[in-house]
Amino acid sequence: KFEKLWLIFGIGSLLVFLTVLGVSAFYMGNQPPSCLTTIDPEKIDKTKPFDKPGLHKIEGQDWDYELVFVAQAFAYNPGKVEIPKGSKVKIIATTKDVIHGLEVAGTNINMMLEPGFVSEKVATFNKNGEFLILCNEYCGAGHHMMNSRIEVV
Ligand code: CUA
Repeated sequence: KFEKLWLIFGIGSLLVFLTVLGVSAFYMGNQPPSCLTTIDPEKIDKTKPFDKPGLHKIEGQDWDYELVFVAQAFAYNPGKVEIPKGSKVKIIATTKDVIHGLEVAGTNINMMLEPGFVSEKVATFNKNGEFLILCNEYCGAGHHMMNSRIEVV
């Protein structure tokens, strides 16, 4: 007698869950990296722009710098980077091995790095100080030690 009720409850909660997932994906930007660019994780060292990790001045774009990160268990390359205050920076990142995260603590920069895909995010650094970069995808035994730093000067 209650079976129908449970069925409705089950389907109802499934719909609620899917709606929440959909809203978070489309309105809050919790999306996996864009699939427009695919690269070979094995050849990252020789693939532009990942052959030169770090901060690079860029001319003729909407942003001033490009900041290239390569993640690999359990570190980022570069492990520390200085950014001039007020710069608009396009962060371009990928991973050599497994899925890693790239979160700049205290900002809205929070990316997911997937092998074979390129993640990008443009951000302006207006505040002086040191910002910790953390991995927020569990990637193995050294996950908690994986970090880098941005220093805005
Ligand atoms: Cu890399 Cu967790």
